[in-house]
Amino acid sequence: MNFDFILPSTIKYGKGIVQELDNVLNEIGAKKIMVVCDPGILAAGIMDKVMKHVGSDKEVVVFSEIEANPKDYNVQAGAEFAIREKVDVVIALGGGSPIDAAKGIVAVAKQGGAIRDYAEKKIGSDCLPLIAIPTTAGTGSEVTFSSVITDTKENFKFTVKSPHIAAKVALVDPELTYTLPAAITAATGIDALTHAIEGYTATCTEPIAEAVGLYAIEYIGKYIVRAVKNGSDEEARDGMMTGSLLAGLSFSHADVAGVHCMAEALGSVYDKPHGLCNSIILPHMMTECLPFAEMKYARVARALGIKEDDDKKAAEKGIDLIKEISAEIGLPDFKSLGVEPSGFRLLAELSEKNGSNGSNPKPMTADDYEALFVKINAL
Ligand SMILES: [Fe+2]
Repeated sequence: MNFDFILPSTIKYGKGIVQELDNVLNEIGAKKIMVVCDPGILAAGIMDKVMKHVGSDKEVVVFSEIEANPKDYNVQAGAEFAIREKVDVVIALGGGSPIDAAKGIVAVAKQGGAIRDYAEKKIGSDCLPLIAIPTTAGTGSEVTFSSVITDTKENFKFTVKSPHIAAKVALVDPELTYTLPAAITAATGIDALTHAIEGYTATCTEPIAEAVGLYAIEYIGKYIVRAVKNGSDEEARDGMMTGSLLAGLSFSHADVAGVHCMAEALGSVYDKPHGLCNSIILPHMMTECLPFAEMKYARVARALGIKEDDDKKAAEKGIDLIKEISAEIGLPDFKSLGVEPSGFRLLAELSEKNGSNGSNPKPMTADDYEALFVKINAL
């Protein structure tokens, strides 16, 4: 098979690696820095913890208006802020929402127009340099070159993809996740597992994406319960951060698939948290796809620690194990999202329209998605 493997981001990984932030800024030649985050990052004190490593020779301005399921108007406002403040570097600090929004901001601030246009239009190389500092072990956005943004007029999530919007440097520091609450650790952790499984099994995957995806599954399977049960377990936090990073590398070089199609529909219409939606849907979509990905799901199961020679049995045990893990780490069921069945048709149509639908192991129509929403809701 033919494939390209592009990795535009330098990854600097390790406990305390944020201490190198000023060196990274000096290498880029930063003078005026814009930090893109959400209000939660300020409230949690993470901003101070990270930005104290920036030298006093630099000016810092903060744009903290990014919402969950980042909106098109968040990107436009951020780009206007960047232009008005004449910043020369952007730091994205937070989970997937600020990092995805920042990727849009660095392009629109330099190339103009509306972020929605870039779903179809090519992004040029002239973007503000971006440094991504994740504070969850889930998004993988620090190493992907795509950004998922909500079109608030159409209630639809679109994807902007280009190596030019990828972070120049990803500073991946597991210490930043030590204070992450258990519920967010759980939901974002299963989001990362979803990235790994979908990256590994996507119809368009390639061998490097498969390899890192499978290895990510091992890390996440080994550490997710420990990280949720004891946030101070440094080895578990480190393992989850590594797993999330590898999962991000996997899906950015392959794709996500049906789980994300459904989760992104829920995010765009009902503004439900991305990680939570994925975590609820994952095992059910795997059951749906099992006849189309038996051997691969068996390898997923074995990476999670299942000992079983028969592929079908192994795959089924792997799906059961994911359900058990989800229950053990306190993830709720689909009903808890409070989505009325009258909304399922629209969600199903948006899922089918999603650009990643074609990557699902099982070809899915809107009718198939609707039937799955009904099935999950009845459990
Ligand atoms: Fe995701």
